[in-house]
Order: sequence, then C-alpha cells, then structure tokens
Amino acid sequence: MKSSLSAVWTAAFILILLPECVRGKDCVCELNNLQRPFPMEKLDSILSAADQCMKSITSTQFMEVDVLMLGVQRRLEQLEESVSVLEKEDDGGLYGAVSLRIIELELAEVLELMSKLNKTISSHKQLSQSTATKLQSMTQGMQELEAFDVSQVVSKQRENQRFKMELAECQHELQATPQPSTPRPQRCPQGELVNITGPRTYGQTQYGTSYSFGAWGKDPKPIPGEEGRYWLVALTSSDVYANYVRHYSSLSTILLGVDPVDTPIASSNPTKNTIMGPNVVQYGGALYYNCYDFPSVCRFNISDRSITNAQLPRNTGYNNKFPFGHLDATYSYTDLDLATDESGVWVVYSSTAYFGNVILSEVIEGNPLSLGRTWNTSLHKRTITNTFMVCGVLYATRFLDKETEEIFYSFDTETGKERYDLKIRIQKMQTNIQSLNYNPRDRMFYAYSNSYIVSYAAVFK
Ligand SMILES: *[C@@H]1O[C@H](CO)[C@@H](O)[C@H](O)[C@H]1NC(C)=O
Ligand SMILES: *[C@@H]1O[C@H](CO)[C@@H](O)[C@H](O)[C@H]1NC(C)=O
Ligand SMILES: *[C@@H]1O[C@H](CO)[C@@H](O)[C@H](O)[C@H]1NC(C)=O
Ligand SMILES: *[C@@H]1O[C@H](CO)[C@@H](O)[C@H](O)[C@H]1NC(C)=O
Repeated sequence: MKSSLSAVWTAAFILILLPECVRGKDCVCELNNLQRPFPMEKLDSILSAADQCMKSITSTQFMEVDVLMLGVQRRLEQLEESVSVLEKEDDGGLYGAVSLRIIELELAEVLELMSKLNKTISSHKQLSQSTATKLQSMTQGMQELEAFDVSQVVSKQRENQRFKMELAECQHELQATPQPSTPRPQRCPQGELVNITGPRTYGQTQYGTSYSFGAWGKDPKPIPGEEGRYWLVALTSSDVYANYVRHYSSLSTILLGVDPVDTPIASSNPTKNTIMGPNVVQYGGALYYNCYDFPSVCRFNISDRSITNAQLPRNTGYNNKFPFGHLDATYSYTDLDLATDESGVWVVYSSTAYFGNVILSEVIEGNPLSLGRTWNTSLHKRTITNTFMVCGVLYATRFLDKETEEIFYSFDTETGKERYDLKIRIQKMQTNIQSLNYNPRDRMFYAYSNSYIVSYAAVFK
C-alpha cells in the first residue's frame, strides 16, 4: 500500500516547466503545482488505524473460541455417558449417590464453561463490530485519497495486478496434476505416530508386587557412558511418594532385579522436593517430577544431587485435585505429568482457572529451571488415563477395558489443531497404566502397570 501511495504523491504534482533560457544567463524554471496539496496527515492516520485494527484482531482470539466450543461439546458428551452409566447402575445404593454427586460436579463445570464461552463470544462480537466501523471509515478515507490519483497510477496498478492474478490462476489450472503435500519440516523426520506394537518386554521389578505406582525408562539424552542404563522409581510410601531413584546397567538386570544402584534425593519420605506421583521422567542425567506438596516441577541432578524447581501458574491443581483416571479408578496424585520428546521435557497439568482442562507447557532445561510456551486444550484431564509427547504433539489415552487402552486424542503444538478421533490401541497386560512415557532416542514407550514394567515400540508412517 505504501509504495503505490507514494506513486500517487508524485503523480499529484503536475509540473509545469517554463524554460526561460537566455544566452549567457542562468536558466530559470518556474514550478507550478496545479493540485491541492496531498493530505499526508490523512494517510498517516489511516495507516495507524489499520495498524491498530491488525493488533486488536489476532488469530489466537479466534482459536480461543474454537477450543472452548470443542471443550463444551466434549464435556456434554462425557456427561451424557456418565448419566447413562448411572441409569444402568442405579440400585438405590451408595454407588448411585456417589455417581450422582460426580455428575452434579461435572454439570456445574459445564455450566461454568458455557458462561465463559458466552462472555468470550460477546466480547468478540463487540470487537468485530467496532472493527467493522473502523474498516468502513478507513475505506472512505482511502477513496477520498484516491481522488488525488489524477494520472490514475493506482487504478492502473490495480488492473495490472488483476491481470497478473488471472494469469497466475490460468497457469495454475494448466498444471492440472495436484502438487504432493509438502512433507513435515525437519521437526519430525520419522513421520507421524500411527501405531504402537508390543508389549516388547513385560516383567516384574525387584519390588515384586509391593508398589502399584511408579515409572521406569531410559534417559533419551544420556550422559556419555550411561547410554545402556535403565531407571526405576517406585512410589514406596502410601503409593504416592518416593525419595530415591534406582538404576540398572541393562534390561536384563532390571528384569532380573539384580545390582541396583540407588541415589537418594532426601533421607526422609516424603519431604521437601521429594517425588509426589508416578509421572516421573529422566532426561539429560536429571530426574523431573512433581515436587512433594507443591504445584512445581522439580529437577533432581543425579550426578551432583542438586535440586531446582520451576513453579507452575497460580491455580494449578496438585495433591490429587486433577488426577488422571476413568469411571472405575482414579490414578491418585497424577496431577502433573512429565513427558519427554525430540525437543526436550514437557509438563501436562490443569488448573481451576481453566476448568480442569489439560494445559501443556515446555520445561526449559536451563539454570534455573523455567517454563517456556504454554497451550490450553479442550481436553478434560480427569477423564483421560495418560498423556505423552511425540515430536511436539501431545497425545492422550483413555481406558477402554481391562485389556485395551486407546490413544484417542492429539494436540499439535505447531498448528494448534486438536483431534479426538485417533484409534490407536494399546494392548495391556494389567488393568491400569499408572505412567506412560515416550523415549525419542529408542522410539519406545515405557509403561508402569500395576507394579509391572512394560515396553512398546512406536510405529511411524
Ligand atoms: C449469554 O449472555 C447473554 C447476554 O450477556 C445472556 O442474555 C444469556 O443468558 C447468556 N447465556 C448463558 C448460557 O449464559
Ligand atoms: C497396529 O498394531 C497392531 C499390533 O501389532 C496390529 O494388530 C494392528 O493391525 C496395527 N494397526 C494398524 C492400523 O496398522
Ligand atoms: C548436573 O551436575 C553436573 C555436575 O555439577 C553438571 O555438570 C551437569 O550439567 C548438571 N546437569 C543438569 C541437568 O543440570
Ligand atoms: C489459558 O486459559 C487461561 C484461563 O482462561 C488464560 O488465563 C490463559 O491466558 C490461557 N493461555 C493461553 C496460552 O491461551
């Protein structure tokens, strides 16, 4: 817009050159501007109004409505499901009363979500109305300015542009063969996750069936020399707390339960900065987990045993406020879920300010530990059983039956696109999976399932 307007500016001056050249004398030119002066201030004010308009409407505002809408829709479906379960089970007993209370709570949350949606929509409506008015006055202003275009520079340019576009369209139609869709950028060279196969390994740990909650795996960014090591954390106190991590030199030693190496975080359990909940990961020689009794991510450096933490936003649920689960079980103290993928460490959590829906944040490895970007999703945290990250995409699972878990949901942090229609089945060995994480180094999934340790392989397209 700027360059065509400076053309108008030049064209608005019709210069009349009256050469008065007399031999031996200086040449004199008389300059006459036949036009009104060009109203530069008017152009400036239109430009700044346009700038304002751009700033007040951002695509994220529209995304917010989409996310809320999807959230309400999902929650209503879940509510319907819960009600039908209640109807089947209503024997007048205690179970019915408890379920009814859960449904009441769900209903209250749905109503709250609706009123938030209502507010957002009406504020957007006002925004679009005021923007439309501004746009109208800008259009008028531009039309007035065009009157200065005496030599029709702008309109000719516009016509040229139209011809060029028609030409381009014509050429495009000639190339009738559709272009192949461009492949994903380097971010995910192995392609999209399409399946999970296995179990590859299945066994008990050294603890036998003593501890139902825990996590295990391999460090995706191991310290040199420790590439073959496996880590194991069992929640040894009340199925909720742990104060040490155990390492084994190989898969066979962890499955046989021999030669463990323990690294204590603290001498008592639980205490400040020890582990709460099973959703632990190891990355870059450090353990990441929910700090005891705080809505914070703790990082325990396994080599020098130092601890740093990063606090999650105010209102973040902890101490069993927004755990994972399904109708028959709650996975207690799973408020925070740590995850690793190709790009590093992530944390999944929820907050009262966001109605118990899943929130995702990057965990920035530096010193001190901090949080990076954050995304709100429309997924309700208490109705899913686990989450994990692959290539910047968040996945969530739900309980289908004792034998099967299903990856049904994904959220792409690059595009903001959510899907509820994935149907990737996980074959279970035990009823519940208390923790599940993806290791981008060996492209395996590590699950802790009712005190058994299980691994699966990722399949990419
Ligand atoms: C939405 O807001 C409008 C006006 O602000 C109000 O009349 C209406 O009852 C609200 N609807 C809900 C479902 O809250
Ligand atoms: C996914 O893997 C399972 C187990 O190997 C297999 O039975 C199933 O057919 C696979 N599904 C797809 C869509 O490839
Ligand atoms: C852990 O401590 C060691 C020794 O102080 C240090 O070299 C390493 O960078 C630390 N790792 C993390 C993840 O902070
Ligand atoms: C997520 O939702 C909360 C609560 O509505 C809001 O304060 C926050 O700004 C949102 N964050 C993003 C990244 O959209």
